[in-house]
Amino acid sequence: MKKIAVLVITFMTFFLCSSSKSTSTRLIRRLFLPSPLTPESLAFDSIGGGPYTGVSDGRILKYIGPDDGFVEFASSSPNRDKIVCDGIADFSSLQETCGRPMGLAFNYQTGELYIADAYSGLMKVPYYGGCPTQLVSCVEGNQFRFLSGLDVDPSSAAVFFTQASSNFQIRDLQRLTGSRDRSGSLLKFDPNSNETTVLLKNLAVASGVAVSRDGSYVLVSEYLRNRIRRVWLKGQKQNTSETFLKVPGRPDNIKRTSNGDFWVAVSNPVSPPPPPRPPVLPLAVRVSEEGKVTQMVSLVEEFGTEAVSEVQEFNGTLYGSSIYVSYANVFVP
Ligand SMILES: *[C@@H]1O[C@H](CO)[C@@H](O)[C@H](O)[C@H]1NC(C)=O
Ligand SMILES: *[C@@H]1O[C@H](CO)[C@@H](O)[C@H](O)[C@H]1NC(C)=O
Ligand SMILES: *[C@@H]1O[C@H](CO)[C@@H](O)[C@H](O)[C@H]1NC(C)=O
Repeated sequence: MKKIAVLVITFMTFFLCSSSKSTSTRLIRRLFLPSPLTPESLAFDSIGGGPYTGVSDGRILKYIGPDDGFVEFASSSPNRDKIVCDGIADFSSLQETCGRPMGLAFNYQTGELYIADAYSGLMKVPYYGGCPTQLVSCVEGNQFRFLSGLDVDPSSAAVFFTQASSNFQIRDLQRLTGSRDRSGSLLKFDPNSNETTVLLKNLAVASGVAVSRDGSYVLVSEYLRNRIRRVWLKGQKQNTSETFLKVPGRPDNIKRTSNGDFWVAVSNPVSPPPPPRPPVLPLAVRVSEEGKVTQMVSLVEEFGTEAVSEVQEFNGTLYGSSIYVSYANVFVP
């Protein structure tokens, strides 16, 4: 922990510009999942219900309050067998048929929940949950191998999602993060035409994705290159891409806030990887629409030395998840 503390201080000194503020958090509560289930991303419905989260056994669970905790809402694989699948942990070989929901986002106009399932492809479920419909399972003739992030453009209803890698699957995660893989991509599904297009290829693990508040651009995290890329969707620079932000570690999910900023979940490896995985310094980085870092907070209080998957602001509070712990954290920066 001492080593972590030194690193926290080093990062804060090195990366924070003078206008940034606040470096620590206050943990409010933990929302526990039944072990060994672990979450990935989080979503809230249009009336503020949730959080919903996709877990390791192929289900989407909804948090309904402190008494009942998380209850089943939907599944994310068309071939899922409850008896075989319920309760399995991450990296199980059963996930291939049970499903592994990664990115989640609601279309607030229709109430539908869109899911990027690592194995099953792009899925959606109706507002009342239940069984999923598979929308896309391959692109340009190649079956998806590892979908990761997802966001819905609130104005156009377009669905942006990422394929982390087209060589590795999620159960190869440790090998993937030690590789020089460049097979990730950013994709767009248009629910009006059912067309899927590839916006960006050759990404060094495409993890998170978030569209800007006005729909003019979309961000994608490039995990192995410690950076966020931006693809312009409108205007003079339409269809061009550029580096939006460099971050001090591996960026995972990106979530837009109500004022148009973004929270990026970042994990910085602290030491060389001893098995089963290296300890990391988990961070939440807040960045403006213009790409300026305005806040950077350590999440050691929330996650110890485990990687953080997502940080999301909802109703003035932050929610954070990690695929390595059986709970979500509620905290304030
Ligand atoms: C938002 O927070 C306020 C108080 O901070 C609370 O009264 C309200 O119920 C919350 N809304 C939702 C949808 O959780
Ligand atoms: C898109 O697919 C749905 C079924 O998933 C179908 O009902 C709809 O007609 C399709 N739309 C177009 C424009 O092909
Ligand atoms: C961007 O790509 C889309 C889809 O391929 C195309 O319709 C549009 O004209 C392109 N825009 C520019 C400025 O090249």
